[in-house]
Amino acid sequence: MCVPDSLMLSALLSCLALCRSVGPVVPDSLRLRGGTGIDAPPSSACIKVYSENAQGYDTWFEEAYFPGIIGAEFTSVERAMESFFPERSPLRVLEVGMGTGRFCLHLKKRFPEHEMLGVEPAEGMRKLCLENFKKHNQTVQLLECAAEDLDGCSQQVGEKVDCALFVTVFGFLKDHDKAVRNVHAVLSPTGCVLVAFIDKTTAWGKDYFLMTKEDKFYTDGTCVVHLAEVVEVFQRNGFDLVEDACYQTLMNYNETKLDLDFVEDEEEALKVERGYGDGMWSVLCFRPRS
Ligand SMILES: C[S@@+](CC[C@H](N)C(=O)[O-])C[C@H]1O[C@@H](n2cnc3c(N)ncnc32)[C@H](O)[C@@H]1O
Repeated sequence: MCVPDSLMLSALLSCLALCRSVGPVVPDSLRLRGGTGIDAPPSSACIKVYSENAQGYDTWFEEAYFPGIIGAEFTSVERAMESFFPERSPLRVLEVGMGTGRFCLHLKKRFPEHEMLGVEPAEGMRKLCLENFKKHNQTVQLLECAAEDLDGCSQQVGEKVDCALFVTVFGFLKDHDKAVRNVHAVLSPTGCVLVAFIDKTTAWGKDYFLMTKEDKFYTDGTCVVHLAEVVEVFQRNGFDLVEDACYQTLMNYNETKLDLDFVEDEEEALKVERGYGDGMWSVLCFRPRS
């Protein structure tokens, strides 16, 4: 994820407001219009941008102004996974839109027993992802494929996967329904999908969306989406929300005191909690409906 610089973040934090929780029942005001997408951008332009600027994207993870933020995001994905799969048996994990592999690499180090697979349509991102894995002596099977074309790659994916991940990818899909149906088809009936994103329902998420609108990485898609929209797309494509395995972090808990530059209570700001709707960063867990 792109992290704003410290000044911008301070400004954002100063205007945080308590946000309303959104449950799995989607209010009318948040329903998707047009059926398939959150602003449904054509994603070819976006893939070109990512392919040509892969190094720039990846550098954010190295130069993070607030490493604690990325750590909290990693932890929230980890917790959701541990919560859904309490036994530490080896899993097949498929990341859709793996990017340069930062999240997957982190999970591989944390859970070395898991087998990691990824699909990523942008060539530049795939190249860097493979380099990142190699640098850390880890392996990954990476396919050139967009989520919407996963049905054509299912043979290469092979056996059903236990866990599919979307990390800051959902807002870039051009056909959300097709992408989710495709993932359903490659997922084990006892598996789950974890969707991690910046929640536009929160005050911080809204500001982040406005701030990144002109950023080259987000002009043809976004990592900021409404939580209720994600829930709606998954529910209408055969999934149920697993409330107990949803995690969140980057809480809008105190708009006057929270400032990660002058940390008084960073622990509180970066805590990772079960649930959704309050944290700017949300990890939702879905299981295929039986
Ligand atoms: C914000 S980056 C996130 C990358 C990685 N998941 C992470 O969190 O660092 C968005 C990624 O989605 C990929 N992408 C865009 N459209 C896609 C699609 N239709 N299917 C799969 N991936 C897509 C882009 O190429 C890019 O690598």
